[in-house]
Amino acid sequence: MTGTPATGGRGARMWGGRFSEGPDRILWSFTVDHSDRRLLRDDLTGSLAHVAMLGEAGLLSGEEVNTLTEGLAAIVTEADRNTFRFLQGDEDVHSAVERRLGELVGEVAGKLHTGRSRNDQVALDLRLYLLRSTGARIDGLRRFCLAMMEAAEEVGDTVVAGYTHLQQAQAVPLAHHLLAYVSTALRDIERFEDVGRRLDVSPLGAGALGGSSLPLDPDRSAELLGMAGRFVNSMDAVAARDHVSEYAFACTQALVHLSRLATECVLWTTTEFGWVTFSDALTTGSSAMPHKKNPDIAELTRGRAATAIGYLTGLMALQKGLPMTYNRDLQEDKAALFAIDDALAGALEAMTALIGSAEFHPPPPDPSVTALDLAEILVERGVPFREAHHAVGALLATLAAEGKTLPEATAADLVKVDPRFEPGDLSLTDPAGSVGRRLSTGGAGFASVQEQLRILERRLS
Ligand code: ARG
Repeated sequence: MTGTPATGGRGARMWGGRFSEGPDRILWSFTVDHSDRRLLRDDLTGSLAHVAMLGEAGLLSGEEVNTLTEGLAAIVTEADRNTFRFLQGDEDVHSAVERRLGELVGEVAGKLHTGRSRNDQVALDLRLYLLRSTGARIDGLRRFCLAMMEAAEEVGDTVVAGYTHLQQAQAVPLAHHLLAYVSTALRDIERFEDVGRRLDVSPLGAGALGGSSLPLDPDRSAELLGMAGRFVNSMDAVAARDHVSEYAFACTQALVHLSRLATECVLWTTTEFGWVTFSDALTTGSSAMPHKKNPDIAELTRGRAATAIGYLTGLMALQKGLPMTYNRDLQEDKAALFAIDDALAGALEAMTALIGSAEFHPPPPDPSVTALDLAEILVERGVPFREAHHAVGALLATLAAEGKTLPEATAADLVKVDPRFEPGDLSLTDPAGSVGRRLSTGGAGFASVQEQLRILERRLS
């Protein structure tokens, strides 16, 4: 069954010589992908460098270089002004650029593809795109870190319960809890920096898969692109997408970290926790219940992290069965990659704003979070920790049986479980005092928070 060629003579495809009829409508609508349109700017960057290299290699005359460069520069202007028009029939971004170049400069546009294939072209476009977004995501993470650090400074010496198993465990400065997310975000930044090094390799000159009989100069192309180096194996250059998976993982891991914070934001705004209020402008109402103020930003961040994990899995599956080298399956990488990248960009911006609007007012922790302090005072007096742990456990059990809380304990209660307790030890049951005594390096103490802020400011500057 043949239909009307979808190109209709208006758009562009870069092939056809060996075909006796134009593409079927069904083939066209199934194979054409518009998600690569956002590579337009990078496609032009790649083409400008390619033309310059071809000129230097003697494959284009000086006049041809000038004409093609001017034509491409005009398309850059159209791209920057958002006036570049894709046509329905353009097979992909590469075909659209070559079509437009032909409209602007005529037949010489046909020389642009000298010594090049869409296989090395799309590989380059993606790398250039990802190098730019690496910078943008690092900036976003940095802004997130600064917002968390500002919040940490604002809450001052506020003490909250730190949790394990979602059970109150030890008293901690709220600032210490918030700064934990800066530590995770700093590693996310490092991951992007690391991926950036592997992205910074030009595949231009690999051609379809095996290079060319023309005297191309891939080193010069890389240099003109400002990239750190070039491919060493042309087949790998067009087939590899592990840098795409790595970038996607860097995004997804950062989203997973944001998602954990998001879960806490949701918990903290509940009536039960009552730790925080976010600004009205960053929360949503319920269509049914007038009193509701919902933390949708946090919930959607969690949701998008879930979606990103799915796309990341898809990217890995996409590559696992592919023979060398380029296979059209790889076209699918872009939709998945862009979805993940957009999810992180959006979540970073939204969560940064949400944290920036937070008013913290947490209740004090339950005094039982000082149980470890009571055990440790015995340890200081030479009692083996296991014995001290048992004594404090027995104290808590006795108090519970008598319907008393830890601050209601008497000196007699203490001495009954272990004669090495002293009456002054009763003062240890204050959670803020517990944090005040926290001395260990990097621990949840006030001095540690100040030290972290100094270290983090240095790392982020
Ligand atoms: N749209 C294609 C992609 O994204 C571009 C490369 C096409 N190459 C080819 N040999 N058909 O992968």
